[in-house]
Amino acid sequence: MNRIATIVAAMVMLVGCNSLKSEFGAQSVTSPDGRVVLSFELNSEGEALYAVTFAGEEIIAPSHLGIETSRGEFDEDMRIVDIKTSTFNETWEPVWGQYAKIENHYNEMVVALQNENGECVDVTFRLFNDGAALRYTLRGEGVCDILNEETEFRMARDCFAHWMAGSDDDAEFNYMHTPLSGINTQSMHKSAGRVQDILECGVATLVAMKTPAGNYIALHEAALWSYPGMALDFDAEELCFTTELSGDSEVKSRVELPFSTPWRTIIVGDRVGTLVESSMVLNLNEPCALEDTSWIKPMKYVGVWWEMHLKESIWDMDGKYPHCATTANVKQYIDFAAENGFDGVLVEGWNEGWGWGERFDYTRPYPDFDIEELCRYAEERGVELIGHHETYANVDNYDAQMTNAYAYYETLGVNSVKTGYVGNINGRNHYDREMVDHYNRTVVEGAQHKLCIDIHEPIHSTGICRTYPNLMSAEGMRGQEWHAWNAGNCIDHNPTLPFTRNVAGPMDFTPGIFDLRYHNTINKAAATADGSVNADYDYTFFVNSTLAHQLAQYVVFYSPIQMVADLPKNYREHDDALQFIRDVPVDWADTRCLAGEIGDYVVTARKDKHSDNWYVGGITDGERRNISVSLNFLDANRIYEATIYRDGTRAGWNTHPTDYAIEHINVDSTTTLDLTMAPGGGFAISIKAI
Ligand code: NOJ
Ligand code: CA
Repeated sequence: MNRIATIVAAMVMLVGCNSLKSEFGAQSVTSPDGRVVLSFELNSEGEALYAVTFAGEEIIAPSHLGIETSRGEFDEDMRIVDIKTSTFNETWEPVWGQYAKIENHYNEMVVALQNENGECVDVTFRLFNDGAALRYTLRGEGVCDILNEETEFRMARDCFAHWMAGSDDDAEFNYMHTPLSGINTQSMHKSAGRVQDILECGVATLVAMKTPAGNYIALHEAALWSYPGMALDFDAEELCFTTELSGDSEVKSRVELPFSTPWRTIIVGDRVGTLVESSMVLNLNEPCALEDTSWIKPMKYVGVWWEMHLKESIWDMDGKYPHCATTANVKQYIDFAAENGFDGVLVEGWNEGWGWGERFDYTRPYPDFDIEELCRYAEERGVELIGHHETYANVDNYDAQMTNAYAYYETLGVNSVKTGYVGNINGRNHYDREMVDHYNRTVVEGAQHKLCIDIHEPIHSTGICRTYPNLMSAEGMRGQEWHAWNAGNCIDHNPTLPFTRNVAGPMDFTPGIFDLRYHNTINKAAATADGSVNADYDYTFFVNSTLAHQLAQYVVFYSPIQMVADLPKNYREHDDALQFIRDVPVDWADTRCLAGEIGDYVVTARKDKHSDNWYVGGITDGERRNISVSLNFLDANRIYEATIYRDGTRAGWNTHPTDYAIEHINVDSTTTLDLTMAPGGGFAISIKAI
């Protein structure tokens, strides 16, 4: 990876913690463009407070900073020992991403604080044009226990928020859309219908909101290593979020000093597109740790997968239902991938253990799955197998086998694995320090075996894929799979995701379902609580979107690996529409969010990293929308051929979801396209330079 770094150290030498200076007054630091301003002061009680404004609007009102450790508390009776400021500006090239080059430009202020026992902590603030970030660095040496962190985000006004409740086990909920003052995590739990397995954990991040002045804010964290995941406790009267570290034990994390916590991030902008386009979470992570990244390849993949969720076949080889991962069935998917230029075939249900109650064996294929023959067959056709490690949350079993399991795949030439953590982890929760270490171990150890990782039911993304770009993607939201089950997703879910979950990092939504209205006999039984089938009931299942909307997902949802999730037979019925999926890249030179409103609609344009072609996607919620899309991002004085995949005149998610039209026209940078998105609909456009 080429890094072109220019570092301008702007000020003051770091002064040691014990060489005290005279009083410091209120301090401030601004973003390079001056629009984001963070002020800091110590009040008369020695409490540290920060506040943030953006373009003149107060965003974060004075908010407390604090961390409690076995070395003492850093929340009051502190004094400032030193303040150091600097500027940093670099442009770096990610292995894959939304951009070919990413600018990392910020102004930094490090405030060295000392508590009454003489223990020291630094608070580092970084101000980017698209927001602010802060973290604590505990100084000294030896071991230290982190007991609590109390960083406040006191929202200056009652914003309109897009949020979901935090949970110790799960992130697969529909989003709520309410004023901040209306956040009630218990009511959300009830509406999600999952009250029984949700603990009171405040609000999950990434939480997005719109201010009364029309600015957009997203709160999250970056660079999560050796620390528990964060949720936000919320006081609706005070409009105040406070960090809540995951984990039930008193000691949240035992660390070696010096130690820096993850960054607390506040993305802010005057366009909703700032949330989509921001690279702040990535920029706050360390540069790539891998010397050789040539084995890390973005790709589109098919999978022996959706047919199991539709219950046409099953993961277990128990004889009751057809087993999915047979050598013969997988060969059909390999053939389909090869015919259409897709690079990978995910195979779930290939290994012993699915019937053994959580004790998977990661090096023993089922007898009807000839893994060596399939690797050979795939390679011959220019396709690779993608491995699968479901754990059913038996993390100890996976940890014990991980080294062997990864070495096994390496020997076979399997380059990618999808992992999974369905269910409750005994006596722990999914996001505590131990689990953060576990997820990170899969990535670091995966790299040692040249294995790319896609984590389902993961810890939320925090940008560590900058450091380990073999962490390709993760689930961490309610993906398309929910539409194979009776619950489905709310119609506003898809136009919420680009501004919430996807801001944190790539997401494996599993797009591209073409059979959008189906009747399934086994699913009928699953739809009733007691498993019986009510003959009078209409068991039609909808995927809450049109086919054009499904195509657009490849542009509006970002991931360097994208599934082509439906069954080959369903794609063969719409081969003309499949052309868009064959064409659309997964690695981008540029990304522009052209229009949108969180939860309503989104239109995004991206430029291919390896050609001059552009791709545009638009999706809407249940509302029909007319939208004008200016193509002024195209090179001037150049003609392109656009292929527009749009909703047909009768289209609608619950009327005619597969009604679409395909149109070819020549366009240039002066063209404006007028498009209609049907309810639950959208459009996808490929724009090829002639
Ligand atoms: C849940 C995952 O999200 C899904 O993709 C997978 O098929 C099942 N678990 C089984 O591992
Ligand atoms: Ca899942």
